[in-house]
Amino acid sequence: MASIAVLSQKGGTGKTTTVRTLADILRRAGLDVLAVDLDPQGNLSDYLDVDPDAEPTVGDVLAGRAKAAEAVHDGIVPANLGLAEAELMLSGKMGREMTLRKALRGVQDEYDIVLIDCPPALGLLSVNALVAADYALLSTEAQYFALQGVEQALEVIELARDNLNPDLEWLGVLLNIADMRTVHSREAYATLVESFPDKVFRTVIRQSIAYAESAERAVSILDYRPDLGADYLALADELLDRLDMGEARARLRPLREAAGAT
Ligand SMILES: Nc1ncnc2c1ncn2[C@@H]1O[C@H](COP(=O)(O)OP(=O)(O)OP(=O)(O)O)[C@@H](O)[C@H]1O
Ligand SMILES: [Mg+2]
Repeated sequence: MASIAVLSQKGGTGKTTTVRTLADILRRAGLDVLAVDLDPQGNLSDYLDVDPDAEPTVGDVLAGRAKAAEAVHDGIVPANLGLAEAELMLSGKMGREMTLRKALRGVQDEYDIVLIDCPPALGLLSVNALVAADYALLSTEAQYFALQGVEQALEVIELARDNLNPDLEWLGVLLNIADMRTVHSREAYATLVESFPDKVFRTVIRQSIAYAESAERAVSILDYRPDLGADYLALADELLDRLDMGEARARLRPLREAAGAT
C-alpha cells in the first residue's frame, strides 16, 4: 500500500482534478484505490458523485464520531462543510496532527493506493494529510511564482517529516494547468527543473477548458477528451514508476496505447 497526499501552497492548482483522474486511471488499471477528500469545499466528493447527504464523512472521522471504515462510500471518504468545524475542534487537541493517520490505520491496508486531496491551504488539514501519507505530491500552476509556492510547500513537507512522519517522501512536483505555448509556462517549467531536476514530473498537464466541461458533466476526461486524458495516463505511468509498481504499470500500458501513446 502507498498513500499519497496531493497538495499545493495555493488554491486552484488542479489538485482535485489530479486526485480524481488518477483515481480513475489507477482503478482502470485494476488497483484498489481509496480517495480521501480532505477539503471542506468537498469538490472531490462532488466530482466523484457522492450523495451530498452521505454520512459519516471525513469530518465525523476526525471528530472521533465515526470510524474511517464506516465513512468509505464507493471508494471515497467524502467531505463537506462539517470538516471546517471538525478542523476547529481538532486544533485545540493533543495529537491533532496525527488524527487522520490514526484513523486511516484501520482501513488503508485494504487498498493498493490511497490518494488524499488537500484543501488550498497548508494548515492543519494538509499537515494531517502529510502525517498520514507515505508520499507528498505537489501540484503547481504554471505561473511566474510557481517556484516560491513549491518552496513553501516543501518547507511544510520537511516540518512534517522532521517532527511527525520521518518516513514521508517527496514524490515529486507536477506542473499543472499549463499552456506550454506561452513563454511564462515554459519558464516556470524550466525554473522548476533547474531547482529540482529529479523531482519534476516530465509529464505536464495541459490547460484546457475541457476539464471544467467534463467536471460539469461528471464524465472522466479520459472519456470526454482522450487526447487530453493522455497527459494523466503519462503521469500515472511516471507515478507508478516512482512507486516501483511495475505490475500496475504493465496493466496501464493497454490504456496508454488506446489513447495513442507511443
Ligand atoms: N488541466 C486543466 N486545464 C484547465 N482547467 C483545469 C485543468 N485542471 C483543472 N482545471 C479546472 O481548474 C479549476 C481548479 O481545479 P481543481 O479544482 O482541480 O484545483 P484545486 O487545486 O483542487 O483547487 P482548490 O485549491 O480550490 O481545491 C477547476 O474548475 C477545474 O475544472
Ligand atoms: Mg481542490
